[in-house]
Amino acid sequence: MEFSTDKFLFGGDYNPEQWLDRPDILEEDVRMMVKAGVNVVSLGIFSWAEEEPEEGRFELDWLADIIHNLYDNGIYTILATPSGARPRWLAEKYPEVLRVNESRQKLIFGERHNHCLTSEKYRENVAIIDKKLAERFGKDPAVILWHISNEFGGECHCPSCQAAFRKYIQDKYQTVDKLNASWWTKFWSHNYTSFDQVESPSPIGESSIQGLTLDWKRFVSDTTIDFMNKEVEALRAGGAEQPVTTNMMHDYDGINYGKMGQSLDVISWDSYPTWQDDTKVKIMENYSMTHDFMRCIKDKPFLMMESCTTGTNWQPYSDLKAPGQYTNEAMNAIAHGSESVQIFQIRQGRGSTEKLHGALIDHYGKDDTRVYKECEKLGNSLKDLKELLNTNVDSKIALIYDVENKWAAEGSDGPRNEGLPLRETAFKLYHALCRYGVNCDVIDEDHDISKYKILILPMIYSMRNGLEEKIKTFVENGGTLVMTYWTGITDENDLVHLGGFPHDLCDVAGLRSEEIDSRPDEHENYFVPVSGNELGLTNIWKCTKLFDLVRLTTAVPLMTYGEDFYNGKAALSVNAYGKGKTYYISADGEDGFFTEIMSKICMASGIMPYLDEMPENIVVSERRNDHATYLFIQNFGDHAEDIYLSETYSEIYPARSDEKFSGKLTIPRMGTVILKK
Ligand code: GAL
Repeated sequence: MEFSTDKFLFGGDYNPEQWLDRPDILEEDVRMMVKAGVNVVSLGIFSWAEEEPEEGRFELDWLADIIHNLYDNGIYTILATPSGARPRWLAEKYPEVLRVNESRQKLIFGERHNHCLTSEKYRENVAIIDKKLAERFGKDPAVILWHISNEFGGECHCPSCQAAFRKYIQDKYQTVDKLNASWWTKFWSHNYTSFDQVESPSPIGESSIQGLTLDWKRFVSDTTIDFMNKEVEALRAGGAEQPVTTNMMHDYDGINYGKMGQSLDVISWDSYPTWQDDTKVKIMENYSMTHDFMRCIKDKPFLMMESCTTGTNWQPYSDLKAPGQYTNEAMNAIAHGSESVQIFQIRQGRGSTEKLHGALIDHYGKDDTRVYKECEKLGNSLKDLKELLNTNVDSKIALIYDVENKWAAEGSDGPRNEGLPLRETAFKLYHALCRYGVNCDVIDEDHDISKYKILILPMIYSMRNGLEEKIKTFVENGGTLVMTYWTGITDENDLVHLGGFPHDLCDVAGLRSEEIDSRPDEHENYFVPVSGNELGLTNIWKCTKLFDLVRLTTAVPLMTYGEDFYNGKAALSVNAYGKGKTYYISADGEDGFFTEIMSKICMASGIMPYLDEMPENIVVSERRNDHATYLFIQNFGDHAEDIYLSETYSEIYPARSDEKFSGKLTIPRMGTVILKK
């Protein structure tokens, strides 16, 4: 089913069930939402106890009243299934619905996400309430989308999950011999003689069979997706006709989101940049990397389902967002393909853990707060940006960031057990492209790669499903491949490849990785340019953490190590292969290294930046369709920045004018400008 919208969705999570005894507040909420330009809310996310106060007794009238009152005021509903947290009666009557943790302790009632996803009783009860909701609201024009559960995650190790895992493993391997070979169980005499002996990994049991750990993660992910699919089936059985989504999370590695996305009509996710962790620009880039990942799951616009207007309640320090900062954050989501700006939460609740989390409406309750006024301006300005709907980001560059690779690499004891820089390396390469000023798709290993000019493989330790073949064809046909150390080490069962690394890509890279050195973070070596190298590199840069010692076959060195016993060995090399080229980066480097080489590689591949110069606080992104290109230029610094446009544009945000201009443009501090070409 297709999801499409004829307006930018603006609104957020709304919990009126917490205020049913305060009709005055509910009325004021609607007034303030309308004033702020809110056109959609997410309802019912954690409302099971209100919807089914005791088993089999359903109370949905209050919800219908809220939904229809909102609708009468021009506000649609994204309706959630309530499976993200269960009512007390359910856990009391069917204790098996609560989780068992990896140390095999049974959890007691409390929190959300404390439920077993293989429990038949949980599945049955979820299906009953979902079907009821669908029967009541499944054809209601006020409801435009189903929000399945909330931020699926976590795992359970109860007897039901163990039985399901055994079946999963037996279906996959068929014979115990095959299982033993795939998991290399002769090691420490851990051979299985029956599938009945298979148990999930545990700190008090098995944690050394890394093929088991990897398959367990696959099982948890597949089970979660299956649970979600059963919820969708229940909605359909109840007659629901609207599309479905579930809200995903930033860099969450408990689920293969690429696979999960196949069951959804639109991708949505919750974006909470942790602004204190680095410069504003770098934090925004880190989250735009996730926007790009989410967009690439379906190669379509997505929804930002949650975000926070100001401080949260769960960070060590909840810093306020400065004026303009939240608007810039929201515009960045749109710049990377979002068709919504959704807030958690519309109104703060008075008690429990989220009472002090930022919101549209705070405890003071009026519409003259700094935060409300900024949201009101944002919400109303989105109404003028309709022409951006259905435009998409069209990138010539893709970077592979794959969760199964992460499971395998991080689950393997090896050269670096503390702080394996996997996300970090991917982000350094992504950041380098942001600094150059072009968009980059962030894709998983299953994604098509044929349309790109540059493909980046940061630490793709484990490749599956014929990725190596796809890459060979890509380079043979003229693509530029950029790969780093610690790529092509194991197969999809985490068995190490024989015959050298990066396995089948040794010819493509023109080298073989012989050894890899790993040192504490503070240890430094250097990338030293080879004189006359073809990229024209002249700077010396620091390298740290992992140092790959490669033997070149047909590749040519561009930079060499400056110190240690491998002083003089290739640290960056290039190899011609077919009509294309491969650059091999042997070590982790400082930002400047990645920024310099990626800009030169882009230029050598004919990919030009959107702006001639990129001030350090500026980020850019393009969305386009067949008729127009929209350039978002955003300033995340605390002073205005000048940029120079070599092409002619008109402005559509913050001001709208048909006048065409080029040359100097000043972007205010914490400001966004959207230009049209
Ligand atoms: C999200 C969650 C919301 C709320 C929010 C607070 O992860 O989906 O329900 O808890 O965090 O930031």
